[in-house]
Amino acid sequence: MESVWMKSSEIGKRDMLPGDMAAPVVIIGAGLAGILTAYYLKQEGIRAVVFEADRIGSGQTRNTTAKITSQHNLIYSRLIQTFGSRMAAHYAEANEAAIGEYERLVREKGIDCGFVRCPAYLYSNVGTALLRQEAEAAASLGIRASFETACELPFPVAGVTMFARQARFHPLKFLAKMAEEVEVYEQTKVLKVEDGKVETARGTVTAEHVVFASHYPFINVPGYYFARMYQARSYVVAFKGAARPEGMYLGIDGDGLSFRSCGDLLLLGGGSHRTGVHPTDKAGTGCRYDMLRNRAQDMYSGCSEVCQWSAQDCMTLDGLPYIGRFSRRRPNWYVATGFGKWGMTSSMVSARILTALITERNCQEADIFSPDRRFTARAAKELAVHGAYTVKGLAKHFLPAGKGRVIKNCPHMGCRLEWNPAEESYDCPCHGSRFDGEGRLIDGPAQTDCKRREKRAKE
Ligand code: FES
Repeated sequence: MESVWMKSSEIGKRDMLPGDMAAPVVIIGAGLAGILTAYYLKQEGIRAVVFEADRIGSGQTRNTTAKITSQHNLIYSRLIQTFGSRMAAHYAEANEAAIGEYERLVREKGIDCGFVRCPAYLYSNVGTALLRQEAEAAASLGIRASFETACELPFPVAGVTMFARQARFHPLKFLAKMAEEVEVYEQTKVLKVEDGKVETARGTVTAEHVVFASHYPFINVPGYYFARMYQARSYVVAFKGAARPEGMYLGIDGDGLSFRSCGDLLLLGGGSHRTGVHPTDKAGTGCRYDMLRNRAQDMYSGCSEVCQWSAQDCMTLDGLPYIGRFSRRRPNWYVATGFGKWGMTSSMVSARILTALITERNCQEADIFSPDRRFTARAAKELAVHGAYTVKGLAKHFLPAGKGRVIKNCPHMGCRLEWNPAEESYDCPCHGSRFDGEGRLIDGPAQTDCKRREKRAKE
């Protein structure tokens, strides 16, 4: 299942790490967050080496819908209520600045990645109160936002919240160009990090600073990210022959969809659910691509499918990313994770904040993103839900694991894996690791394949 981005770009191969070395900064993960952080550090005269277990952009960067927005569903009203206007403004400013920074880089380097400014909309079919509230909250923080009633969608809506001057682009074309300026070693999986030593299968690197930008941190302690983050899957189908809106749209109702155009295609997204939790009814996970196909035919009769793909997102307890110091116990480790469904702007925000921290420059926006920020009531509620899934998954570990070749217990912390029929994978409901039908690792935080039963020789 290749995304439209994978089908239309190529990123040059890089060498593996040649052996032991020393570097001021090691960055783990060559997605947008890792590559941009290395780029900005280089601008500051600091050498940063990036280690990638697979290929540049082979993680979540290739599976996005590539909307570059400060509009992150309904968030600003909640942020003002929970953290106050000053910190909420930091979130808005950091994300608005991220859009501008993408534009600056694209222009300065002449990157041919289809970057275009366009409005982003939230829509609802059922009511306008939340949309009006969000528009007012965002506008009060300096975002050009307004409530409107007209939009380009092919069905009636109660209203929309419009954010002006957001953007869309081709993420892999952008990443390929930026990676050219960065020292990256591919096929170099990090096995262990201990203080200033980063151990890979290809050699050990001594570093003053270590950045974890590999989606879900694979180290459990310190940091305890496994206890405060889960993963969610969502689905995208690209169609030809459908109307292509100029703006980007996201529904805030339970069955809301995501719309954006890409050349002559419409990208229709939706069907989000916690990884490893698969409803078994006909409208459930097994049919989420079908749900998108059916909705597309209802709206744009006769359109034809070009490709389909899915995304895996890290979700935090309070809905904000964790960007900053990894843990108080490791002051020279840094983390960029928990981007939710907003990986484009969050990657840029991460790069700016982590560069400021490593170069010891002031960055006032860092407070709202800090992994150490205040624990909120919403986070407490989500922690209880997350804990319940984990307890259930761990309890199932002790039930019979079936007779198949793959032993369906997650190598991360032991939760029972669930079969995902839509994607023919074993998914973990606890923290979201995924494995193919043979038990081979697809997504972490697990670091190894599932255990397998040996085939019995025929007698
Ligand atoms: Fe943590 Fe499976 S991902 S137990």
